[in-house]
Amino acid sequence: MNLSPGVNDFSEAVESDRLHVWHHLSQHKKYETVDPLVIIEGKGMRVWDAKGVEHLDAVSGGVWTVNVGYGRESIADAVRDQLVRLNYFANSAGNVPGALFAKKLIEKMPGMSRVYFSNSGSEANEKAYKIVRQIAHNRYGGKKHKILYRERDYHGTTITALSSTGQNQRKDQYGPFTPGFVEVPHCLEYRSQYGECADYGTRAAQAIEEVILREGPDTVGAIVLEPITAGGGVITPPEGYWETVQEICRKYDILLHIDEVVCGVGRTGKWFGYQHYGIEPDIVTMAKGVASGYAAISCTVTTEAVFDHFKSDPSDPMSYFRDISTFGGCAAGPAAALENMRIIEDENLLDNTTQMGAYLMDRLHGLKEKHAIVGDVRGKGLFCGAELVRDRETREPVAENLVQSIVADCLSQGVLIGATNRSLDGYNNTLCLSPALICRKDDLDQIVEAIDGALGRATV
Ligand SMILES: Cc1ncc(COP(=O)(O)O)c(C=O)c1O
Repeated sequence: MNLSPGVNDFSEAVESDRLHVWHHLSQHKKYETVDPLVIIEGKGMRVWDAKGVEHLDAVSGGVWTVNVGYGRESIADAVRDQLVRLNYFANSAGNVPGALFAKKLIEKMPGMSRVYFSNSGSEANEKAYKIVRQIAHNRYGGKKHKILYRERDYHGTTITALSSTGQNQRKDQYGPFTPGFVEVPHCLEYRSQYGECADYGTRAAQAIEEVILREGPDTVGAIVLEPITAGGGVITPPEGYWETVQEICRKYDILLHIDEVVCGVGRTGKWFGYQHYGIEPDIVTMAKGVASGYAAISCTVTTEAVFDHFKSDPSDPMSYFRDISTFGGCAAGPAAALENMRIIEDENLLDNTTQMGAYLMDRLHGLKEKHAIVGDVRGKGLFCGAELVRDRETREPVAENLVQSIVADCLSQGVLIGATNRSLDGYNNTLCLSPALICRKDDLDQIVEAIDGALGRATV
């Protein structure tokens, strides 16, 4: 970025930010003495802040979102062209980019059929919960209304999305929560709840069945799961897990809702995370990477069988899905999303994600060999985590402030990395990496070298 005095003086914006903006996930006392980070510009994998400092972004906009990188003029053009033609109409009517994007999306999701638009991951999940609840009322007299969620998974920020979230620190102080949501155990083998276990994946899935039997299968309508847990510690599923989960859902007639808000649209090297594991979901939600943050859009995608519950009886005026999201009618979202998908296809970004993801995992394993503090590395595609421990033997997690000092050290080296934060009491100890799908080896080298240096300086 070219900082010429007068033209690129952002001091007024920085001061206004300090005085008036309430930042997400932030304790603000420090901004009385230090400037808040204000990002001015982005290009490819890099962003520049108000002081003109360049940062290599290893987390795609902080929260695994900007999948195709910054500064994509073709997306900006597609959005502009759409806005001057038609910016908005409530989605009780159609619009052209919405229809075309839905078709293209469904082509990538064999077995799925219908797309419901809204504008955040939390909202997409709320739609799914309403779908499940309405089916319970229409088909099962309201009985099959419970929704299972998993310890360590996150499904959003609204009270009901938090009610289905398995992270105690995210929930603390925001209750009481929506009734009818029931937790099942996590599936992180590194922190096995069942001791040494030859077939941990099957055991972890059976733990779900135990909860279903305890609650009563006729009361459970759905289970919501991340294909790979993101903010709960980048948890890739253990072998055998998903096959058993799918079987259990079929056995008890439970809808399988996969939350692809993070993994969706390329992050793991396939269009969707669930496609690595042969899963056949009933409902899939997605948000972040759908338009790479160029416009706000989220989708709740269902099978035709789920959709059919809401159209098969036109004589019942209460049977259709009586839901609306005002901004689900913004045409900029699907216009950006269509162009985002074109870029991923034309630039072979799924292949790049697989190749670069393998390289990144390799380099992270190298860090594990070198630094005893790295207890475990996990990941799929360009979605990776390194869990830090005080002691390899006992696996005692390092303190959250140590993890944050490593993030700060990388920031001072010009590399933005992430970490699990204020999510799980005692377990906010995983460094998170999710570089844009366009990354190259030299970007990843710079990221890993920054972490290497920071780990070397960290005192446990
Ligand atoms: C797996 C998952 N689901 C849902 C959400 C909520 O998305 P949003 O912040 O867009 O509401 C998030 C956000 O981080 C997420 O990681």
